[in-house]
Amino acid sequence: MPERLTVASAIASPELTTYELRWRDEPIQFRPLRPDDRTRLFEYFQGLSAETRYLYHPHPFTEEYAERLCAQNGAEQTVRMIALREHEASSPALAYVILDFGLSAEDMQRYRGYDVQLERPICRIGPSVSDACRGRGLGTVLMEALGRIALRFGCTRIILLGGVFTINERAIGFYQKVGFRKMGRYGIEEGPESWDMMKELRPSPCLEAAP
Ligand SMILES: CC(C)(COP(=O)(O)OP(=O)(O)OC[C@H]1O[C@@H](n2cnc3c(N)ncnc32)[C@H](O)[C@@H]1OP(=O)(O)O)[C@@H](O)C(=O)NCCC(=O)NCCS
Repeated sequence: MPERLTVASAIASPELTTYELRWRDEPIQFRPLRPDDRTRLFEYFQGLSAETRYLYHPHPFTEEYAERLCAQNGAEQTVRMIALREHEASSPALAYVILDFGLSAEDMQRYRGYDVQLERPICRIGPSVSDACRGRGLGTVLMEALGRIALRFGCTRIILLGGVFTINERAIGFYQKVGFRKMGRYGIEEGPESWDMMKELRPSPCLEAAP
């Protein structure tokens, strides 16, 4: 059985979670953010439309924040990853994904309401694909890799970090297509309601192998 990954090992040895993937017949790389990605990440944030920022909403999209995320990848049980064209060293990011291995009391409480007992290790994800690449299968390719990474962390479930807005029909359709189920809706005081969605992973030695 391959050694189980931890956030610390994934950041100390990024090759452990660096995946060479194919998207539309092109090689792409999916790997943890590095400190030298700060400009690339900020440019990615800048390229997101106002609508995407609203739908994605995980954190500020400023230059300072991009710099901090790149410099402190691995902080707070979170590994942040980007996808880029493999052959272009300075190519723009195609996608940015948060993999969070924490589990909040609020998550546990909400899921208890859906009759699901959440336990660690669990993987919470927040994916985004650049506006230009959206709807062309990149999210699906990345989800397959995310499932493999989550298994290597010992997780058998993936849930959405903060859920998905009920108005975000495209993302809900995407999550359903890649195996997530709607678990229940919840609302916060101000803002639209969200669906909590979860995917069960089936452990398999070949899926848990390193890239
Ligand atoms: C959600 C997201 C990550 C998906 O990535 P993607 O690369 O666009 O997804 P893919 O192209 O692999 O899959 C698209 C699938 O979404 C679904 N979909 C797309 N538009 C849809 C719509 N209007 N209604 C319902 N389902 C839709 C379909 O199942 C489609 O599959 P198909 O092309 O085989 O029909 C991406 O669209 C994104 O970044 N959106 C903005 C940010 C965001 O909302 N993030 C999620 C926050 S919780």
